[in-house]
Amino acid sequence: MSRTEAILRLLLALFILPCNTSISSAASTADAFLHCLAAAIPPNLLHTPPSPSYSPLRLVRVPESVTVFTIRRSRKQLATHLIAKWQEIAPALPPDLYLRVVVHNQDAQFQSLFLGRCDRLVSLMRAHFSDLGMVRADCEEITWIQSTMYFAFHSSFKPLELLLDRGNKPDSYVKAKSDYVQVPIPWHVWESTWTWLAKQEAGILILDPYGGRMGSVAPSATPFPHRKGNLYNLQYYSSWSENGTDAFDKHMAWVRGLYKQMEPYVSKNPRTGYVNYRDLDLGRNELGDNVTSYAKARVWGEKYFKGNFERLAAVKAMVDPDDFFRNEQSIPPLPAAKGWNSM
Ligand SMILES: *[C@@H]1O[C@H](CO)[C@@H](O)[C@H](O)[C@H]1NC(C)=O
Ligand SMILES: *[C@@H]1O[C@H](CO)[C@@H](O)[C@H](O)[C@H]1NC(C)=O
Repeated sequence: MSRTEAILRLLLALFILPCNTSISSAASTADAFLHCLAAAIPPNLLHTPPSPSYSPLRLVRVPESVTVFTIRRSRKQLATHLIAKWQEIAPALPPDLYLRVVVHNQDAQFQSLFLGRCDRLVSLMRAHFSDLGMVRADCEEITWIQSTMYFAFHSSFKPLELLLDRGNKPDSYVKAKSDYVQVPIPWHVWESTWTWLAKQEAGILILDPYGGRMGSVAPSATPFPHRKGNLYNLQYYSSWSENGTDAFDKHMAWVRGLYKQMEPYVSKNPRTGYVNYRDLDLGRNELGDNVTSYAKARVWGEKYFKGNFERLAAVKAMVDPDDFFRNEQSIPPLPAAKGWNSM
């Protein structure tokens, strides 16, 4: 297959032109589009072969009004105790209720998005997590699109056009690492993180609950493997605007140091991570025979994709065998010797 043909195949698979035109008066345009999309992808490139009962893409119905809140509890207001409890409560909440924690300075912020109204949210929080002390006054009922403003810009009242503004130059540096937590981290470990968070160069921790719908999909059904058995994703995040190596070294050392300290308490063999918090510390592609080395890439690839990495590399070998699209952590083509070409 020529490079041009490979690129063409990839673009066709990505943009699926027919789906843009074949749907006009469908009762549910979004559902019809997704079904068209699923049907248009060549079956040998699909992660799970389609079957009559198999629906790879499912959308959640979002009500006209959703409810958000942010509740801040300081270390002195029992934040350690609340985080320790949250670890078991949040992954088991009803699937329409999301409750994450952002730990910053000496505070834990509990942030929620609920696909429903305030009344029901108050009673759910009372039933599942009364220690947090959530009350009606914490509720803000807004539209779903406003909730994206709320989480991205800390206010639901800013103009929605802000979502279109990607900026024109990077104005800060960012380093992130991530872990999956499968067993609640002991209270004393959370207590010990406050000294890290008190440092002048400290970043933040973001705890995103799994469970719910996340856990109801089989790990091999889609490329994303981190499903049942994960309580939450723990992100170590730092951003800074000072130029130069001094600032760089300090912030990187903070992120890497805390990550190292947490090793005993997170997933193992491999220590997994979330691909969207791209972490080049996990490994980088190296060129083999003009394409990136599959063997080398497995080191980081299996942390992001576990057993699905080999299957992704097999698909890559079919659509982009020359590895035209590559970066430090792109999926490498699986070598023909492994026998996947006939897939
Ligand atoms: C960092 O360097 C860039 C490019 O020289 C400059 O535009 C920016 O203002 C500097 N940032 C700080 C915080 O000094
Ligand atoms: C790698 O690229 C070089 C130069 O384009 C070419 O001569 C060589 O045959 C290629 N090797 C393989 C294994 O494709």
